[in-house]
Amino acid sequence: MLTITTIAGVRARREEAGRTGLRVALVPTMGALHDGHLALVRRGRELADEVWASVFVNPAQFAPGEDFERYPRDLERDRDQLAAAGASVLFAPAAKEIFPRPPATVIDLPALTAGLCGAQRPGHFRGVALVVAKLFNIVQPHVAVFGAKDWQQAAVIRRMAADLDFPVRIEVHATVREEDGLARSSRNAYLAPKARRAAVVLHRALRRAAAAVAAGERSGAALEALLAGEVAGEPLVRLEYAAAVNPDTLEPFERAGDRVLLALAAHVGGTRLIDNEVVEVP
Ligand code: PAF
Repeated sequence: MLTITTIAGVRARREEAGRTGLRVALVPTMGALHDGHLALVRRGRELADEVWASVFVNPAQFAPGEDFERYPRDLERDRDQLAAAGASVLFAPAAKEIFPRPPATVIDLPALTAGLCGAQRPGHFRGVALVVAKLFNIVQPHVAVFGAKDWQQAAVIRRMAADLDFPVRIEVHATVREEDGLARSSRNAYLAPKARRAAVVLHRALRRAAAAVAAGERSGAALEALLAGEVAGEPLVRLEYAAAVNPDTLEPFERAGDRVLLALAAHVGGTRLIDNEVVEVP
């Protein structure tokens, strides 16, 4: 696996790949890789000839006071894991390479970012959209693979790619979970053992609400109350939001349509975790 740190280096390698007609899948990451990321790499290998991964802890998507400084970084380990999973190229730029000057460009999708994490983390999705747009322009992938755990992020990126005519297919891969159901996340590394055990309540709440949908519950408010009630039963977890929304528009509903996105964000110990589940309405 080739490691490249400059935009010029990526462009040169990409031109070479283009000449031989190789299809490229991009897996953008912030590093601290886990099985969830490696599943994205494996999916990329099914969809393209080469998988290129990026590791870049994007300062533009962290607000002051969030965990940018302490976000786990271990490039050596990430490199080994990506190579073992079959990635061909690792793009690992320094912050100055991506943001040589404070960007004057804003990519904003207010309709998709007014609720859920967007309401809690103002500016976060502008930072995500900007860096992903830059990565798309730098790498020019045929397909880009993202995890469903960040459902709102995937919705924002899909819409941005469509609105701005990026010639890239956006692929969203199912959330990879621990045996007890906790969604894999780089931030799970922050959890002390007690908090780690308590964090399973997120998945439990989603499962209960999904079961309620299967049993006939259609009210958005009732589903949100059910999610919140389940999380409230775990004293180590502080709920940030519990939502039942349309999975495409991310808008709340009174009565469920064909599909429901159940989504949660909560603080466990000092760690903010998110999880979600998309449920087909019978
Ligand atoms: O999901 C992430 O790890 C990040 O938000 C992404 C897509 C790599 C952009 O920095």
